[in-house]
Amino acid sequence: MSEKIDTLLKESRVYQPTAQTKAAAYIQDYESAYKKSIADPEGFWGDVAKELEWFSPWTKVLEWNYPWAKWFVGATCNIAYNCLDRHVKTWRKNKVAIIWVGENDQERVITYGELYRQVNRCANALKKLGLTKGDRVTIYLPKVPEQIVAMLACARIGVIHSVVYSGFSAPALANRIQDAEAKLVITADVGFDRGKVLNLKSVVDQAVANSPTVERVVVLRRQTPGITLSAPKEIDWHDWLKDEKAVCEAEHLDAEHPLYILYTSGTTGKPKGVVHVHGGYMVGTYITTKYVFDLKEEDVYFCVADPGWVTGHSYIVYGPLLNGATILTAEGKPDYPNPGRWWDLIERYGVSIFYTTPTAIRLLMRYGEDWPKKYDLSTLRILGSVGEPINPEAWEWFHRATGENKPIMDTWWQTETGSILITPLPTVPLKPGSATRPFLGIEADVVDSAGNSLPANTGGFAVIKKPWPSMMRTIYKDPERYKTYWNTIPNCYIAGDICHKDEDGYMWFMGRADDVIKVAGNRLGTAEVESALVSHHAVAEAAVIGKPHKLVGESIKAFIILKQGEVDSPALIQSIKDQVLKELGKIAVPSEIDIVPSLPKTRSGKIMRRVLKAKELGQDLGDISTIED
Ligand code: PRX
Repeated sequence: MSEKIDTLLKESRVYQPTAQTKAAAYIQDYESAYKKSIADPEGFWGDVAKELEWFSPWTKVLEWNYPWAKWFVGATCNIAYNCLDRHVKTWRKNKVAIIWVGENDQERVITYGELYRQVNRCANALKKLGLTKGDRVTIYLPKVPEQIVAMLACARIGVIHSVVYSGFSAPALANRIQDAEAKLVITADVGFDRGKVLNLKSVVDQAVANSPTVERVVVLRRQTPGITLSAPKEIDWHDWLKDEKAVCEAEHLDAEHPLYILYTSGTTGKPKGVVHVHGGYMVGTYITTKYVFDLKEEDVYFCVADPGWVTGHSYIVYGPLLNGATILTAEGKPDYPNPGRWWDLIERYGVSIFYTTPTAIRLLMRYGEDWPKKYDLSTLRILGSVGEPINPEAWEWFHRATGENKPIMDTWWQTETGSILITPLPTVPLKPGSATRPFLGIEADVVDSAGNSLPANTGGFAVIKKPWPSMMRTIYKDPERYKTYWNTIPNCYIAGDICHKDEDGYMWFMGRADDVIKVAGNRLGTAEVESALVSHHAVAEAAVIGKPHKLVGESIKAFIILKQGEVDSPALIQSIKDQVLKELGKIAVPSEIDIVPSLPKTRSGKIMRRVLKAKELGQDLGDISTIED
């Protein structure tokens, strides 16, 4: 990048860990632990790997054939074995693995022993359909325990799962089934969304009609009377499992055997099938879950994601189960049947770790602080955020709403990275809006387009300088596309995000490089301007885009959602502009502000600025198959 990115946001608040947080933490001194891990990353990762079980050992921790990595070379393992058998052999056999709550409040509690049996039955049933190591299965299920069972069952026998979020349309699903050449699709009759019934089976019917590789469709029938299935192609989930034995040997797989394909489109372009493997992914998700959330035996861990996204793969399913945790997972949205939904679940189940997203926090902010105040949230001890930069104002709100003394882990990572890479640990002093420092064993930097490190407070590309175990191994059927992550800036993994480091080495993510706005020779990241907008008392959510402008290159246009009870007026617009002026300076003040009822988002909750921009400029909207609304 020849021109630098300006950094305008100045956030001076720092939160030190409480004595209680410190007393509990695995990592007491981040600085020394980090230095040690970086001095010998392979030694560090090798030691982590030894906490898990392997069928046979590795000869080398890493084989780096730039840009291709192999971790734990020659070892055999199975991630599902480590999620289940490792615990079932111990007292954890009768520990609760999953507490599931349906949108209608139906509850299911599943122990490790029971999960093990269900997974084995499902693995045997998969085998009976002729599925073998390396075959692909598409899982298109709502957020029900069977989704987790199906994922682990595939992993157990070396079948590669491709989970597709159940909000996707038939063409988007068909596209993903066809790219993976799946032989089997596992689905349900229906899902629920804010009381609305989603007919998933009919979506699958349409998608499968154009997908010749699909031999069978297994259907979990949630409604009575059950819908009619057309045998032999369509099979009922319960019939499928009922005669299967609860024992199925876990396949001994090479550490580099693919575990899953997960299609990500991010906010732009054609979906890419990100490929993760058993060994390295297991090591990365295991240790980040343990250290970032300081996960202990007695915790109740609640991650609001859906296993249809990478956050669900890594931090509902694999990371927590590898750690033998008790996981709460709930179907439905944060504001249904009312905006107290998640606070209620936290109180009801005594949740101690709560991992959510900035988009959900901003949604709940809209309804005000009275909602969280109605509930006892005193069991919480660690909070987490992921998916977008968390605006300092949303950070402060989350901190206040949950009782002021719980550290917030602002975790930066991507589908491609597999596990959290930039993040605080609970004992690291926190600055609202910063994802803070690299995780142990991770070398990160902010560089220009030639790969030169940039000085403090200068925006540039966020990069990772060395391979790490949970990195994606390729893009399915598209190795050339994989290479672009590593060869755009020589010898660095480029994430596509812009970022700056402050004088303490804290990393501040500023948005996607594609969304940078160029105003009168200044280059601004979207996150800073949006954070300044959200810091206005009336603003719940904001998105900014650059519009071509004859004089200054681009001018800033903002789209804003107001908090409940706030009313649009010229005076309000002016005061919002004044707020940006005060926070960031004249250059960042939007020349136009539109008040809107909603913003275009990906189904995982990220704002799609390119859609706002295309619409504003009257251009083709491009691929919008991932859009929520
Ligand atoms: O732009 C960054 C943003 O989300 C992108 C990755 O999206 P996805 O692959 O869907 O994975 C989301 C869950 C890991 C990143 O390139 N992002 C994610 N977490 C943060 C973030 N931006 C700023 N701060 C974060 N904590």
